[in-house]
Amino acid sequence: MFYARRRQSLPGEAYPLGCSFALCLISVENGFDFSRRNSPPYFVEEGELRRFVKKLRRSELYEDTTGNLITVREEEAVDMTTKLFALTDKVAIVTGAGRGLGKILAKGLAEFGAKVVVCDRILDNANQIAQEINTTGIAASTYVDISLHSTCQDLIEFAVKEFGRVDVLVNNAGFDIIKLSENLAEDEWDKIIDVNLKGCFNCSQLAALQMMKQGTSGSIINISSIASVVGIKGLVAYSAAKGGINQLTRVMAVEWAEKNIRVNAIAPGFLENIMQGAEAEHAQSDKQTQIATFTPMARRGRLEEIVGPVIFLASDASSYVTGTVLFVDGGYTAA
Ligand SMILES: NC(=O)c1ccc[n+]([C@@H]2O[C@H](COP(=O)([O-])OP(=O)(O)OC[C@H]3O[C@@H](n4cnc5c(N)ncnc54)[C@H](O)[C@@H]3O)[C@@H](O)[C@H]2O)c1
Repeated sequence: MFYARRRQSLPGEAYPLGCSFALCLISVENGFDFSRRNSPPYFVEEGELRRFVKKLRRSELYEDTTGNLITVREEEAVDMTTKLFALTDKVAIVTGAGRGLGKILAKGLAEFGAKVVVCDRILDNANQIAQEINTTGIAASTYVDISLHSTCQDLIEFAVKEFGRVDVLVNNAGFDIIKLSENLAEDEWDKIIDVNLKGCFNCSQLAALQMMKQGTSGSIINISSIASVVGIKGLVAYSAAKGGINQLTRVMAVEWAEKNIRVNAIAPGFLENIMQGAEAEHAQSDKQTQIATFTPMARRGRLEEIVGPVIFLASDASSYVTGTVLFVDGGYTAA
């Protein structure tokens, strides 16, 4: 991939291959001077753009002798890609990071440069994961029960005390009790809703307040599920909570857009990790058959396959994306 970079007029600014790039290329070809910021844009045919890209690939370096126009190099593209997805100096909280998906997401965020707050209601697990991350990255661990507003407040204060700020929140913690609707007890319903839905609200509200206090942008990523939009037996409260998460995502995205706090959700399909509480259900052989049959990609998702979407939503690569629910489900909800 190539990128176009303005030279002297706006050093450091670059534009990914696409519309802006096309404008740069065509503009340069037509002798357009980039130092004149208010010059009109040019519209480009796709074929024309391809021919330019081909030409540029051959020449590798495309530069005006005065250094006033643009340089296009593959190294810059790599550099730019790294910058787009970099989370260097960003502070990211991942709830329920003591095991399963949260653990992999915390490690992935740290690999992309974030300082990670690993939190879980099982503190020993959180401590262990933070220790593992600290061999190559930066992490701190703490206790949280996301269903309790007060411990969520403690979590935010802990992040600020340890790392000075909060930039990214991944609402990952969740749990389930699999029972048919007629068998689910009232306290079980309450518990599922309290953790999966209210917990997501608690952490999002408090993280957003902290971001507003900082006066910085932020990204909140809610881990939803395919169960938010399809009916799966035994998941009545869990599905209601996840459907609620999709809506909470949209409302918060709309409310906080002007503050530059983006709120998005990722809805995974069936993953290789089995959630606590779902082990018995998933041990059944007809469950495996059902998953293979109804997932077009005919397999469970690997936990690592959720990392990319999270990095995308956490980073500047998704700076114009808010209020969306991204299904990462091997095609389950498309079928
Ligand atoms: N595993 C899947 O197939 C799958 C599919 C779709 C969505 N999801 C979602 O992904 C997320 C992670 O699932 P997982 O498979 O890793 O589950 P998991 O059971 O392996 O891990 C969940 C983690 O959350 C923690 N947790 C639970 N309740 C908590 C609370 N009240 N406060 C703080 N921490 C709490 C647990 O201690 C655990 O460490 C969940 O939101 C789940 O709904 C999972």
